Amino acid sequence: MSARGQVQLDGIVKKHGAFAALKGIDFEIKPGEFFALLGPSGSGKSTTLRILAGLDAPTSGRILVDGEDVTGADARERDVAMVFQSYALYPHMTVFENIAFPLEMAKRPKAEIGPAVREAAAKVKIEHLLDRKPGQLSGGQQQRCALARAIVRKARLFLLDEPLSNLDAKLRLETRVELKKLQRSLGVTAVYVTHDQEEAMTLADRMAVFMEGEIRQIGRPADVFAQPNSIEVAAFIGSPPMNLIPARYQDGSVLIGGRRLPTMLQTHGERDVVVGVRPSAVRFEADGIPATVEVVENLGDAAILDMSLAGTALRARYDRFPLPREGDAMGVTVRPEDIHLFDPVSRRRL
Ligand SMILES: Nc1ncnc2c1ncn2[C@@H]1O[C@H](COP(=O)(O)OP(=O)(O)O)[C@@H](O)[C@H]1O
Ligand SMILES: [Mg+2]
Repeated sequence: MSARGQVQLDGIVKKHGAFAALKGIDFEIKPGEFFALLGPSGSGKSTTLRILAGLDAPTSGRILVDGEDVTGADARERDVAMVFQSYALYPHMTVFENIAFPLEMAKRPKAEIGPAVREAAAKVKIEHLLDRKPGQLSGGQQQRCALARAIVRKARLFLLDEPLSNLDAKLRLETRVELKKLQRSLGVTAVYVTHDQEEAMTLADRMAVFMEGEIRQIGRPADVFAQPNSIEVAAFIGSPPMNLIPARYQDGSVLIGGRRLPTMLQTHGERDVVVGVRPSAVRFEADGIPATVEVVENLGDAAILDMSLAGTALRARYDRFPLPREGDAMGVTVRPEDIHLFDPVSRRRL
């Protein structure tokens, strides 16, 4: 086999009594791919990762790694490395001993362990910390140590469960960039759990959006962002979230605030729809639909305007200066290609 680290999940169900934490999970990951499991808390991401790691057994379904059925295999046989939010370092061991631990467990020769540990530590830039105990490290350094322990095994799969969530915002951004570089340079398949859509958007080659134990959409982040297939996915991805406005569709336009906005959908007839508009897609034109600025959230290089448009709330991103003021009247419009249409009953994209 040329490339290692291909993963396939077929119909994975996980029940806790009558409660189904996973209701049938299917996906395939290519060797070397960075694949994110994204979704709100409780949607089944960690359960899926633990089943993939062999830490939990599915109620039904199959797991294949490099074409081999590993459903019944235990964690050690699967050749996967896992990094958790809580790092799970051994506090009484030095950094060196922590990184060496998986190799010791695998009974690798002593002469091999030293160089392997130093090489892994170098990849995450903690060679100078090998004699310290985890308690003498910052959160970011502890996270690197946990990564080095995963790297040292040269596993075919990297499984990461919210690995950055204990870091402060600035360090999280830096570590995110380094993690991506590291994964690329190792060429290893990564499965990455996060509830943070920005993390998934920036890191993943592809992502699976989890909700209530199901995958609602799989695709490249840019495609899911551009074409969310349901109201729930649309609302979850993007920050600030997409505006979702109940409206009437009529012969190729939607009626909002007494005006017609042309859409890309050009069918005859009338129906109720939910119109989705990203805050960044709202345009300002003097003769647009009249709206009132209620709150201005200044972000420094732009602002989020909370507006009221014919009694409906509308959030818009505004990046011209000077900024409008609270109480100002403004005209807004949206280009046809920026209007997402959803069925209010099925919640699916039209
Ligand atoms: N051992 C368990 N017993 C009962 N319910 C569980 C157990 N483990 C997880 N769950 C439930 O399964 C659902 C999915 O959990 P989890 O996979 O941890 O979600 P996520 O990682 O997306 O936040 C949650 O509703 C959780 O409460
Ligand atoms: Mg979780």
